[in-house]
Amino acid sequence: MLEKDLDEVLIIERAVFKYPWTKDFFRLIISEINNYVITLRQRNTIIGYGGYHLLKKSSDFLFPHKKYNQVIHLINIAIMPYVQNRGCGTLLLNILLNNARSKHCDYCYLEVRPTNSKALAFYKNTCFSIIGIIENYYPQDKENALVMGKEL
Ligand SMILES: CC(C)(COP(=O)(O)OP(=O)(O)OC[C@H]1O[C@@H](n2cnc3c(N)ncnc32)[C@H](O)[C@@H]1OP(=O)(O)O)[C@@H](O)C(=O)NCCC(=O)NCCS
Repeated sequence: MLEKDLDEVLIIERAVFKYPWTKDFFRLIISEINNYVITLRQRNTIIGYGGYHLLKKSSDFLFPHKKYNQVIHLINIAIMPYVQNRGCGTLLLNILLNNARSKHCDYCYLEVRPTNSKALAFYKNTCFSIIGIIENYYPQDKENALVMGKEL
């Protein structure tokens, strides 16, 4: 994802999320060296985006008893509503996870709202399982987050 993509990315963001991220927040995300953020295009139109953050340190805070080599945090994934349920989300997720595997990452985790049943089903279908819960995680409405993870 590049600066020139942000207006199109914001269209997706506003179409799918009740509390969309701002342009400045996306700028911050794409400027961070340890983030890998991509867009998915259909012909010349951006129809989805997703990204992950490569954790600098080991994941002791998540798994005190298990040592992973390199962990990624899935920042977000979103697909334009009119092309959902056609495999685009799975494709985007697989591109992200394969990229992480190529960097010797061996674990991925993410947060999802318990009320986001579509995303929950999507992550379960892509072999993520619930590993925890963070209370009052989302600042806008204090909804809890489910933490999901899977080995890569
Ligand atoms: C969650 C999200 C990214 C999934 O993207 P998607 O493109 O709809 O995902 P997919 O099409 O790969 O998979 C979704 C469903 O389509 C089905 N599907 C995949 N390819 C298909 C095809 N060719 N034909 C018909 N159905 C298909 C999948 O089996 C899956 O169905 P299931 O969950 O009932 O098993 C998307 O719904 C989204 O952007 N949601 C809003 C943003 C969001 O909540 N993001 C997550 C934040 S944590």
